[in-house]
Amino acid sequence: MTQSAEPILQVRDLKIDFSADQGILPVLRGLSYSLPKGRVLGVVGESGSGKTVHALSILRLLPPAARISGGEILYKGRNLASMGEEELRSVRGDKISMIFQDPSASLNPVLTVGEQLTETLLAHRKLSKRQARREAVALLEKVGISEAEKRLDEYPFQFSGGMCQRVMIAMALALSPDVLIADEPTTALDVTIQAQILALIKQLQRQSGMSAVFITHNLAVVSGIADDVLVLYAGLCMELAPAAQLFENPFHPYTQGLLSSLASVHKKEDVLPVITGHPPVPGQILTGCPFAPRCPHAFDKCRRECPPLFEEAARRTRCWLREGK
Ligand SMILES: Nc1ncnc2c1ncn2[C@@H]1O[C@H](COP(=O)(O)OP(=O)(O)O)[C@@H](O)[C@H]1O
Ligand SMILES: [Mg+2]
Repeated sequence: MTQSAEPILQVRDLKIDFSADQGILPVLRGLSYSLPKGRVLGVVGESGSGKTVHALSILRLLPPAARISGGEILYKGRNLASMGEEELRSVRGDKISMIFQDPSASLNPVLTVGEQLTETLLAHRKLSKRQARREAVALLEKVGISEAEKRLDEYPFQFSGGMCQRVMIAMALALSPDVLIADEPTTALDVTIQAQILALIKQLQRQSGMSAVFITHNLAVVSGIADDVLVLYAGLCMELAPAAQLFENPFHPYTQGLLSSLASVHKKEDVLPVITGHPPVPGQILTGCPFAPRCPHAFDKCRRECPPLFEEAARRTRCWLREGK
């Protein structure tokens, strides 16, 4: 990660637990990263690795069973993890905004797209209704929706999935946030639409200079969009590296496995994913590296002791193979 730029968001040793019938389940077990201004961090991990929980915690939108049990989330130096509700409200949407996987679930079906956009604008900005509507038209145009004036008066059901996601992006950008958190924003879309939405997010991010945390289960998705990539596994960061270096030369065997799975998909060969087995479930007693049971390079120490994150220049790798490198 480029250390020169001042971080806009800093996550430090973030821990999140769920309380469940079985007891306290740790789902995030000490996550740290730093997001400089204008950069995009890709967060990649299999389903259940803690990606969404991490995203929700940033704006303190976690479900009631979950709690932040340790660490800090610093936005321009202020700790979101301990901030009062009122101060948080001034951050949500305005400074940090989110887009989610399922746009149709995030839009209100009984309000027109225009009503929802202008409501967001009016709630945070001193605008007349007419100015808000003009702004809403401009926003729809910015996200590539043609005949924006007319489409403002339509309801979400009149929009396709890709168009709904464009509307969500318009809403997220309405208040010119410093940070956009996108949690699998293209996962629910067709492949061609996915590519369009990714290109749109990247273009808008570049234009506005905002920072973004881009979350996905698919490593291929972040290759064109992220400056840095964090690989999450069972609530732990396994690898964090500048994107180009990670794709060129992945250090962690898990990242290597994810990349080879991609390669085999691209080749359209009928091969199974390279990584066999499943990640541990929260609450499972873990000794050693959580990836060891699936790792082709695991040795005794891996099964006994969880490795720390080894630092090498701009890279961090949680693997005993990197010890002393
Ligand atoms: N409401 C909940 N109650 C208990 N456990 C939960 C709840 N929501 C998520 N989890 C657990 O937290 C872990 C992380 O979930 P999540 O952040 O949604 O993963 P991801 O987004 O990476 O797929 C999962 O193992 C999941 O089982
Ligand atoms: Mg998720």
